[in-house]
Amino acid sequence: MAYAVYSDSLGSAKELEIAVDDFLADPAEETLQQARDAYKAARKPYQQCYTAGSHKNSPELSNQVIFPYTGMLLHDMGEALADFDIDNKPVDGDIPVEFLVTATQWRTTPLWGVGLTHAVDSDATFLHDGRARMLMEAILWHDGEAQTSKDAVLKLNARERALLIGFLNDL
Ligand code: HEM
Repeated sequence: MAYAVYSDSLGSAKELEIAVDDFLADPAEETLQQARDAYKAARKPYQQCYTAGSHKNSPELSNQVIFPYTGMLLHDMGEALADFDIDNKPVDGDIPVEFLVTATQWRTTPLWGVGLTHAVDSDATFLHDGRARMLMEAILWHDGEAQTSKDAVLKLNARERALLIGFLNDL
């Protein structure tokens, strides 16, 4: 049953991918309609597959306490982390760039698993635009609402800094 659902889901996902590629190669009313139809056709098996495989429905994994290390909120991180415009200039932090979100507001990334980042991809980098190569570099970019935390880190001695990075790498 699970295999049948998965196989339907995979098949319709492949058809959707082809339809979207066709639309991108030749954007027209007809190819757009075909992509829309493929999307609708792919939704059902995907939902069934998701519901069949989702952790939500595995009793042994539900109601678990997790520590994702994120407030899941947006924070003003200061001008240095502001988004860039198409001319590669930092956008004024007061201007909403996405609905009500301003150019300096970012969601607190879940730090859970951050220590595995380089095990998964040795070239991976940190922060929304990947500008930080190391965890400490990511911390030093914190400003705005997170400035107090950065200042506290700057006061740590070498051993305490190593412990902090060790803690993050253990998450
Ligand atoms: C000493 C305390 C803190 C540490 C060690 C820390 C660590 C980090 C690290 C390592 C990242 C990069 C994660 C990644 O890219 O995968 C990050 C991102 C972030 N942190 Fe913190 N953080 C601290 C405090 C705070 C505080 C107090 C706030 C908010 C008030 C905050 C808000 C954020 C946000 C919004 C991002 C994402 C920024 C972006 O993507 O450009 N952090 N933090």
